Amino acid sequence: MTNTGEIFSRERLIEMLSLHEPKAIESLYGLAKSIAYETFLGDVYMRGLIEVSNICAKNCNYCGIRADNGNIQRYLMPIEKVEEAAQFAFDNNLGSVVIQSGERNDKAFTDYLDDVIKMVMRISDGKLAITLSCGEQTEETYRRWFESGAKRYLLRIETTNIALYKTIHPNNNKHNFSHRLEALTALKDIGYITGTGVMIGLPGQTIADLADDLLFFRDLEVDMVGMGPYLVHAETPMAADEAKLLPIEKRFELSMKMISALRILMPDINIAASTALQAIKPEGRMLALHSGANVMMPNITPVEFTENYFLYDGKPGTTVEPAEKLEGIISDIRKAGFNPCFNVSGNPPHFYRTQQTA
Ligand code: 5AD
Ligand code: SF4
Repeated sequence: MTNTGEIFSRERLIEMLSLHEPKAIESLYGLAKSIAYETFLGDVYMRGLIEVSNICAKNCNYCGIRADNGNIQRYLMPIEKVEEAAQFAFDNNLGSVVIQSGERNDKAFTDYLDDVIKMVMRISDGKLAITLSCGEQTEETYRRWFESGAKRYLLRIETTNIALYKTIHPNNNKHNFSHRLEALTALKDIGYITGTGVMIGLPGQTIADLADDLLFFRDLEVDMVGMGPYLVHAETPMAADEAKLLPIEKRFELSMKMISALRILMPDINIAASTALQAIKPEGRMLALHSGANVMMPNITPVEFTENYFLYDGKPGTTVEPAEKLEGIISDIRKAGFNPCFNVSGNPPHFYRTQQTA
């Protein structure tokens, strides 16, 4: 797997992402699916996603819960409510939870999150694996949360084109590409199983940018990737750029090609079937499994909160109860010919392989 032959060259990736013949695209998906099968044998790792807070100190130009959006009701789930959701995950044998929130670095929040981690460890006797997705934090905070029991962390790089990164974020020190990179390195150094990802189809983003994103994932030796189409949220500065975007169908197709190309490039990492895909097509996440993804993250946030966690317009499932959503997704995964896995943490083989050889 370390041989970076011709198939892994930047040019080859650009070719894959540029395919336009339906048959050629189908065979790209098919190749990626068979590579995923060799590693995972049809298994799909499950995580229960809990969106614990939509309060965010940042102002990313694309995101519906950016600090300057005054049109949403902000919440921080009381810890008892998070406990109910974690208990639901545990009772339903999910094996793992993802704790997601807006980005806050204040002590009240970092303490709260530490309590959440300890609570999940306590109620599950350490059996529920915890992934965090809570943005950039100091190395000290990352270390504290790791020691309390979180062992995986997702922090998307959003785009590796630095000029593009600047255009999609406010121009201030808080939204800085090199900080993001340093945070990712800190997570890896601490020992987190680290994930990142990008948005696909951003205004001004090129196919070559996306090929570079894939090479970045490989060079950083990340263990997990979550990526999906960029979707407009009307109450954001980037809504004004809508006319510059690829049609939504094309953004969807490009996202699927990205998943396939990444699977070919990195056969044994975890690749999520992202919620944003489902926002475009109801069967979007199942199609992602057919093109190389192996992780599904059913949203188990109580309905009273989900309706305020709108990163983009058309976010699906915000009025459906978690139990119903979970049942539906498990049945869809089986119908698609895959095997949803229960009571496993679902760590990527890549993590163990690179730990041994590093
Ligand atoms: N479209 C698609 N993805 C988005 N995210 C935030 N806003 C949007 C949007 N408008 C993604 C970002 C972030 C993750 C939590 O959600 O990639 O890292
Ligand atoms: Fe906050 Fe994350 Fe949205 Fe940026 S993408 S505004 S950090 S929640």
